[in-house]
Amino acid sequence: MSEIRSVAVAGASGTLGPHVLQALIDAKFRVRVLTRSKKPGKYDAGVDVVEVDFTSVESLTTALNGIDAVVSTVGFTAIPTQTVLIDAAVAAGAQRFIPSDYGSVSFNPKLEAFPLYDQSFKIKHHLHEKAMAGQMSWTVLATGTFLEFLFAAGEAGLLDFASRKVTLLDEGDNRLSATSLATIGKAIAGILKKPEATKNRVVKISETIVTQNQLLRFAEAPRPGDKWEVSKVATSALLKEGLDELSAGDFSFPVSFKIIKGTGLAGEAYGSAYDETDNELLGVQELTEEELKKMVAERLA
Ligand SMILES: NC(=O)c1ccc[n+]([C@@H]2O[C@H](COP(=O)([O-])OP(=O)(O)OC[C@H]3O[C@@H](n4cnc5c(N)ncnc54)[C@H](OP(=O)(O)O)[C@@H]3O)[C@@H](O)[C@H]2O)c1
Repeated sequence: MSEIRSVAVAGASGTLGPHVLQALIDAKFRVRVLTRSKKPGKYDAGVDVVEVDFTSVESLTTALNGIDAVVSTVGFTAIPTQTVLIDAAVAAGAQRFIPSDYGSVSFNPKLEAFPLYDQSFKIKHHLHEKAMAGQMSWTVLATGTFLEFLFAAGEAGLLDFASRKVTLLDEGDNRLSATSLATIGKAIAGILKKPEATKNRVVKISETIVTQNQLLRFAEAPRPGDKWEVSKVATSALLKEGLDELSAGDFSFPVSFKIIKGTGLAGEAYGSAYDETDNELLGVQELTEEELKKMVAERLA
């Protein structure tokens, strides 16, 4: 497999995309951004930005001329549209495709028929077909939960730091992997530097494995006077509720979030903690307990 030098990034203007773009630039790849519309001031002056029609193989094939690898970081709702981008990558002669996936449990075959996960499996199958036909190789990157999201405000995070409330999922001991956005970006650059070792497989990275109870202990230790209000919910109940509401036609974010929590934070049920990883291959350093404690302490201010 020849060296990957030029990389196109789709979805570089979102949450994860800028970190991936920066890591690829830092790793000295020639980078081209594919976007639906140019956003003034969004990218550094030297970045090659091309406006494309993500529904057109022709538009995308032209934009991918001379590109060795395509990294997609398009948003969740755009995941199904990636079949067009994959077909264009093959037509343009790219050798590697990294789809927008970056899930915590989205590689688990148990979830293949689940709403919210089925589309990402369709993309994985599409890539597998291309690889079987010898047209292009792929890598899916499993990242655990985005580390920043563990500390999101309100009920979106694992602990609600502002109101000192926590809803423990099951008993609060479910283990889950997490990786920061910057580290995910660097890992993607690492995959493209090591194309043979990362070819046609799910690659897992995990900067830390945490539980809610561990984070709660870290939060209580420096502030023994603070009283945390603790409640509990079973992930199986949350998942059932989300699936029932979805099948009744409620496609709202809170409903999707119940399904995400009911699977991605359910510990062993869907494999949210990666005890075996590709950290070493990709140079991912695990966080120390002290670093994690510091992150928690910063949220207590
Ligand atoms: N593990 C986790 O905890 C976790 C958390 C959040 C997200 N994720 C996953 O990470 C990936 C990236 O998520 P994100 O939150 O960074 O995405 P995002 O910010 O929602 O969107 C990224 C970019 O996608 C592009 N986009 C949006 N709709 C599109 C469409 N219909 N067709 C083509 N491009 C479109 C936009 O770029 P332009 O406007 O420039 O075209 C947008 O800025 C997704 O696969 C998501 O499921 C994982």
